[in-house]
Amino acid sequence: MYSEKVMDHFQKPRNVGEIEDASGVGTVGNPTCGDLMTIYIKVEDDIITDIKFKTFGCGAAIATSSMITEMAIGKTIEEALKITRNDVADELEGLPPVKMHCSNLAADALRAAIDDYKKKNQDNK
Ligand code: FES
Repeated sequence: MYSEKVMDHFQKPRNVGEIEDASGVGTVGNPTCGDLMTIYIKVEDDIITDIKFKTFGCGAAIATSSMITEMAIGKTIEEALKITRNDVADELEGLPPVKMHCSNLAADALRAAIDDYKKKNQDNK
């Protein structure tokens, strides 16, 4: 039911944890299942130099957030904003349809972290 890539990221999730002096933090909940996801980003010169996640979510949520951290690191803020829910699922070689909502959690949390970063940056100007 799950691709090898999903299983790999589920069993060996990358970038788990938190960043204490994060530039932006985003937490979102999934209304469908009640699971939670937090993404922390560190931004330097408009580039995401570090990213970590923590989740109270299912295996698919763990795999998608692990995947999205790998996709976002090294990207500019604008590039990272272009990562869609479907991009993450595609990169994982597909998710079962009933699990597609789990990939939303990762993409939405990344967006929320970027919004938080932008807001904080505006305040500093
Ligand atoms: Fe909740 Fe997947 S079932 S995130």
